[in-house]
Amino acid sequence: KFPSKVKIVDVGPRDGLQNEKQPVPAAVKIELVHRLQDAGLAAIEVTSFVSPKWVPQMADNAEVMHGIRRNPRVTYSVLTPNMKGLEAALSAPRHEWPDEIVVFGAASEAFSQKNINCSIAESIERFAPVVAAAREQGIHVRGAMSCTVGCPYEGEIDPSRVDMLAGLMKGIGVQHVGVADTIGVGTPVKVRRALEATLKHYGIDDISGHFHDTYGQALSNTLASLEMGVWQYDTSSAGLGGCPYAKGATGNVATEDVVYMLHGMGIETGIDLDALIDAGVYISQALGREPNSRVSKAIRTK
Ligand code: HMG
Ligand code: MG
Repeated sequence: KFPSKVKIVDVGPRDGLQNEKQPVPAAVKIELVHRLQDAGLAAIEVTSFVSPKWVPQMADNAEVMHGIRRNPRVTYSVLTPNMKGLEAALSAPRHEWPDEIVVFGAASEAFSQKNINCSIAESIERFAPVVAAAREQGIHVRGAMSCTVGCPYEGEIDPSRVDMLAGLMKGIGVQHVGVADTIGVGTPVKVRRALEATLKHYGIDDISGHFHDTYGQALSNTLASLEMGVWQYDTSSAGLGGCPYAKGATGNVATEDVVYMLHGMGIETGIDLDALIDAGVYISQALGREPNSRVSKAIRTK
């Protein structure tokens, strides 16, 4: 019934750190990426090529991409909301290019405006040349769909909005979409409806779950998605994070907590939980706080 293997994309270096007020040195971000890949993560979302005025923490994007030691087993992704972002990501030597780029839209008009300063329709127009140019270079393209169950400005989001956005993403050639609960308000049945709307346009192998844990529902939502056969999830080391344009939203579900649940269910991830916990402790210490993961805390105080 459940998938036998799950692919985790650790989005900690990007989603986790983008909202940090204190500047995190590029060297710390690079070390986090190294520790995550050494712990067995097969995919890592490293940084964003967005406006440094909008998200100052990601201004060192090129430095971080330059500094990471590539492991050929790992897929490295970055966010690119427009051609300027893609051009910046590809201005480095080819061996420093991302393997995958992410365009990010929203199922809510208000969130689209706040996050990327344009309507949903305009965002698709902006993404289209980005998707085409990336694919022409052999770079895989993912789309993130924000606010698929709830929006900080519009409240509950109807699955028909997700259906529409997934169709638009498919129409411009986005190869994979992440169904995001940006503010962590989703519960299992609502999340399933958002996934079902997405499945009208994408196959089960081309969708992933991206659940923030603001209301403590992310593990339940992950389990509900697993039951549908979804086998790819974005999670964040030490539960880091939040979105700068979604006030009060906390981090993605902690990678440690998801890995513990999956291993306990006999589902393979390729991840060494102890090494993962150490990576979470490393970044949390750098930020001067405790890891936001129940599993990390439980295992370290055992
Ligand atoms: P804009 O102001 O509409 O863009 O911003 P513009 O094209 O009019 O350009 C304005 C200025 O930004 C210009 O500079 C551009 O050069 C610069 P100026 O002339 O004023 O000096 N600019 C850029 N600089 C660097 N890289 C770029 C870039 N583009 C323009 N790529 C824009 C539009 C999308 C750029 C802006 O709104 C932005 O950067 N937003 C960032 C939003 C963001 O990063 N949000 C967090 C990530 S999404 C997320 O967390 C959700 C997710 O996790 C899923 C979920 O949980 O829901 C993925
Ligand atoms: Mg997110």
